[in-house]
Amino acid sequence: MNIDDAGLTLADPDAYADEDRLHTALRVLREQDPVHWVDPRPDFNPFWAVTRHSDLLEVERQNEKFINEPRPILVKAEQDRHTAENGQMLRTLVHIDDPEHKRMRSVVADWFRPRALRELDVDIRRLAKRYVDKMADLGGECDFVREVTVDYPLYVILSLLGLPESDFPRILQLTQELFGIDDEELQRGRSPEELMQVLLDFFDYFKQITADRRANPTGDLASTIANARIDGEHLSDLDTASHYVIIATAGHDTTSSTIAGGLHALVAHPEERERLRRDPELIPTAVEEMIRWVTPVKEFMRTATTDCELGGKRIGAGESLLLCYPSANRDEAVFDDPFRFDVGRDPNRHLSFGFGAHVCLGATLARMEARAFFAELLPRLDWAEAAGEPQWSSTTFVGGLKHLPLRYRIR
Ligand code: HEM
Repeated sequence: MNIDDAGLTLADPDAYADEDRLHTALRVLREQDPVHWVDPRPDFNPFWAVTRHSDLLEVERQNEKFINEPRPILVKAEQDRHTAENGQMLRTLVHIDDPEHKRMRSVVADWFRPRALRELDVDIRRLAKRYVDKMADLGGECDFVREVTVDYPLYVILSLLGLPESDFPRILQLTQELFGIDDEELQRGRSPEELMQVLLDFFDYFKQITADRRANPTGDLASTIANARIDGEHLSDLDTASHYVIIATAGHDTTSSTIAGGLHALVAHPEERERLRRDPELIPTAVEEMIRWVTPVKEFMRTATTDCELGGKRIGAGESLLLCYPSANRDEAVFDDPFRFDVGRDPNRHLSFGFGAHVCLGATLARMEARAFFAELLPRLDWAEAAGEPQWSSTTFVGGLKHLPLRYRIR
């Protein structure tokens, strides 16, 4: 594959559904031109593809030189144009920079600290058991993604928010429509107008939640968001809704992709599954390896605020950089044998949760959920094998397996 084709691969949603193709391109980029100018016009606006672990870290560390606004993720050029004309449809934590970012992040940060989350541990274990029980009830064969993992992290996060179970299907749909925008099976529409409609539906929904929690404050995260004040004022409707949307959506496709991709890797590497079963103390390193292996978030972007240099390239002020996490996580300079799935890998300096000011707020929660799930599943799972071809979602942003047909015996 030549270097320009390798660069263009990063802007092709279907490439992310074909791991061999994606990793062939990433290897070419890392080896030949690790900070590479990609021009996928007319579909997408151009960007620098940053593919080495060390360069990604250098960008993420300098959040004044490389900022999230106005282009935090890769979207179609048509969508960039719509944003330039109308402003961002959402202003979540990933859309804003300091000092505003710091203030907004502090509204919810306490909820995601390890000590606060420890109180949730019992609930998470109970939910993990419920989903492993469900797998058992399915009678030895299922589509593990659609029937098991897709709901589990959703339940955890929406319980934290305090939203009623009857609203879960709606939130699931929102996530899939926002993140599955490039995947025909998951999307409602592709145009900025259709996407706007999805968001407007949800703004209405969250507006009611805000009104309710302001009138009747409770002890849940939704109430914290609704009643937060910055400089004495409640957050605007847009900021409130943006907080709900990112918390309700960021934490489940990512976590369910980790669990599904992790189980797929264990089925494909039975010796690693056996190793883990014999030594459950390895669950934390195994989960870390699953998060590296799957890398559910494919990219975030930054825009340079000044002319500068990165990896020997001149980056102009206003140019955007695409942080290619799947590439950093297979970087031969950092990981021994990066294409080996090793449940005992330690150290494991993966960048799946990003780094720096925007580092994933839900990393501790995601780890707890995956650990609880495998701690429940592994002692009960006698064997498992593929019952059909797995399928990955087409997306340049968040994704992983969308179908994982499995046959198994479980107690
Ligand atoms: C941000 C990955 C689970 C909430 C991020 C970022 C990444 C990421 C790469 C951007 C980091 C950066 O720009 O440097 C993941 C992965 C997950 C996961 C791989 C699962 C394995 C969760 C969960 C939540 C969550 C469970 C819970 C609500 C957030 C939020 C942000 C974020 C709110 C924005 C932080 C900010 O911009 O300040 N995540 N995430 N994530 N994540 Fe996660």
